[in-house]
Amino acid sequence: MRVNGRHYRTIWLEPRKKETIFSIDQTRLPHAFVIEELKTSADIESVIKNMHIRGAIVIGAAAAYGMYLATLEAPANEHFDAYVLEAANRLKATRPTAVNLAWAVERQWEKISRGTTIDEKISLALSTAMAVAAREEEACRKIGEYGLEIVKQIGGEKPGKTVNILTHCNAGWLACVDHGTATAPIYAAHDAGLKVHVWVDETRPWNQGARLTAWELGQHQVPHTVIADNTGGHLMQHGMVDLVMVGADRVTRTGDVANKIGTYLKALAAQDNAVPFYVAFPSSTFDWNLRDGVAEIPIEERDSGEVKKIQGKCGDEIKTVLLTPEDSPAVNYGFDVTPARLVSGLITERGVCEADERSILGLFPEHR
Ligand code: MRU
Repeated sequence: MRVNGRHYRTIWLEPRKKETIFSIDQTRLPHAFVIEELKTSADIESVIKNMHIRGAIVIGAAAAYGMYLATLEAPANEHFDAYVLEAANRLKATRPTAVNLAWAVERQWEKISRGTTIDEKISLALSTAMAVAAREEEACRKIGEYGLEIVKQIGGEKPGKTVNILTHCNAGWLACVDHGTATAPIYAAHDAGLKVHVWVDETRPWNQGARLTAWELGQHQVPHTVIADNTGGHLMQHGMVDLVMVGADRVTRTGDVANKIGTYLKALAAQDNAVPFYVAFPSSTFDWNLRDGVAEIPIEERDSGEVKKIQGKCGDEIKTVLLTPEDSPAVNYGFDVTPARLVSGLITERGVCEADERSILGLFPEHR
């Protein structure tokens, strides 16, 4: 992804400074583009908890780098493994819904524990962190290619006209290592010269859409319009949405999808209006152990202050203001589950499939 004309990943390591991880502070966007330097596994834990780094794919990559930093700070003696395992548990506990976090940490531990010396373990941790980031980047690029075919097909049904795509939250470049999940097909379509326009749900309470997706699309010059979260149903009733495309934080083997709170309501409206509803994600987002998303996917509950307050720019200052009566209680569920029956298709790095176990296992037979 390009920012002010320069290519960035959301998280990276510079070859000459191998003990520092660089990342973009998402809490400062869209008003400031700030790069942070992360030097310890505790730094990584903190930026994931505080959402400086957020989005299922990039939190997985960040946790993989966090494990690498844990190997650098672990005592070079018989306590090395115990230290790294403790860091693994702390990293896994930072956010409960996106399974990519546990996936990346477990992959790291499996590789690190193959090392026979401490130097070998550190070197395996570094190569695995870089491989996780590279794998996710490539998966998102492929999601873009497969999703482009869907946009092309819908575009083919209204020649010369703009394809209007509604998206929720930020399932973009910022939520991944590069390209995005739901936005990868949008960037691919725009780059291929197709006329696309994106309806960007603001995504209260944290406003990932209004703040991040709108900024990203703007950087890539993709036409877009920010809408209040409750607008999508009205747009669909009036034929103003051709396609809904969202990302995911955890998908069961039966195709139930956990994504940012509010996704389920968009899926209901899409079904009522016969608008295709696609979910784009790499295979690291599958939880192969789960079958019933509503009953089994853990839903993060965040600080109610995020609902009661809102942050924005006032003159040159970023301010947080109170929206609600001081004493009104609020509740803040971070995610909801869209049952597979409401999903038109899943876009993965291996292709597009239906949201059911047979079709998913057709693409991923190793999980039969
Ligand atoms: O709470 P967040 O901002 O981390 O939630 C992110 C989302 O729900 C995204 O839509 C999701 O991670 C899919 S994109 C990788």
